[in-house]
Amino acid sequence: MMEKLMAWIDARFPATKMWEDHLSKYYAPKNFNFFYFFGSLALLVLVNQILTGIWLTMSFTPSAEEAFASVEYIMRDVEYGWIIRYLHSTGASAFFVVVYLHMFRGLLYGSYQKPRELVWIFGMLIYLCLMAEAFMGYLLPWGQMSYWGAQVIISLFGAIPVIGDDLTQWIRGDYLISGITLNRFFALHVIALPIVLLGLVVLHILALHEVGSNNPDGVDIKKNKDANGVPVDGIAFHPYYTVKDIVGVVVFLFVFCAVVFFFPEMGGYFLEKPNFEQANPFKTPAHIAPVWYFTPFYAILRAVPDKLLGVIAMGAAIAILFVLPWLDRSPVKSMRYKGWMSKIWLVIFCVSFVILGVLGVLAPTPGRTLLSQICTALYFAYFILMPFYTRMEKTKPVPERVTG
Ligand code: HEM
Repeated sequence: MMEKLMAWIDARFPATKMWEDHLSKYYAPKNFNFFYFFGSLALLVLVNQILTGIWLTMSFTPSAEEAFASVEYIMRDVEYGWIIRYLHSTGASAFFVVVYLHMFRGLLYGSYQKPRELVWIFGMLIYLCLMAEAFMGYLLPWGQMSYWGAQVIISLFGAIPVIGDDLTQWIRGDYLISGITLNRFFALHVIALPIVLLGLVVLHILALHEVGSNNPDGVDIKKNKDANGVPVDGIAFHPYYTVKDIVGVVVFLFVFCAVVFFFPEMGGYFLEKPNFEQANPFKTPAHIAPVWYFTPFYAILRAVPDKLLGVIAMGAAIAILFVLPWLDRSPVKSMRYKGWMSKIWLVIFCVSFVILGVLGVLAPTPGRTLLSQICTALYFAYFILMPFYTRMEKTKPVPERVTG
């Protein structure tokens, strides 16, 4: 009966072919490690955001008069509303934790290098889309930080010569951030951006499956195939990695649920304190800081004294990641076989990024501004010097087969 049904479907839709191409006959390197959990975890968080988002939308009112109160209504009166909201707000931060680790894996093992440039580019487009999604979502509860955070970021567009003022007005749809802005951010947050995000994730995975996954050794497993054409260092994604990924999911859910149930505000880092107060255009909070996942870029913006140059530096900090595949000239992929200069620069880059993240949360002082300028310079130096140090350094020989 089942076989007949499948044959009927397969004659009309490539169900079995897709299952085999992407799961049961997709051969992934057998040496995936801890860092390879984060792709599937990003998918899990994406599903969480979409499902909890749909349920939040059922009780949320996107108007300046009612948005704040409707969030309180969700928290107090809607059945299980509090857990749905905390799953969504914690999910937003979890998304960035997972995606940053996922990107770090790319840097560590050279996963952006040929032939995976498009996997990386689609990943970067996902990252941009995710930042827009998080930014617009943050305006919706219409708290003080929603309002003033959006005010700071939207006003940055005003620094662009000639069109700046008209552009900010066009984004807001009004002369100041108002219910009109809230309404359009709602439309973009719940419909437009999620569709783009889902489409990009499909393209990301299709591009990956076209060339095959990289691995911690950076060895091309397709070079070594058995008589049946199966890579000798490959194992079928299903059942081997579907089962292994469950381990990652369980550990992740432990941590995630602990946050949802015990520290949903995460000391003001996941839900900022001023956002428990309704937006008030007449009262600027003493200290405006974006949510933690934006703070490295916010620190880069503040490190540059000129507003326009600051905006350009911030944009360049993200844009430069797009061309990474062409900056790395190393003959090897994985950090395991690269030279000491690549290793040191990766450490410098990560430390600078974290310091910038911390500085972005704090109010600026002359000392902190100087430190953020140094870290910004090191952030860019990692990329700009990459074509040189990856070519100059001595690499280690890459083994024929993966090393277990
Ligand atoms: C919604 C966000 C994302 C989802 C759902 C996602 C999903 C995935 C999945 C399922 C894989 C295969 C499993 C793995 O290698 O871990 C993967 C691989 C990869 N992703 Fe993502 N990804 C996301 C964001 C990103 C971003 C922002 C980047 C970088 C800018 C990126 C770069 C890569 C690269 C380079 C690979 C290949 C890794 C390798 O083969 O070593 N991804 N992604």
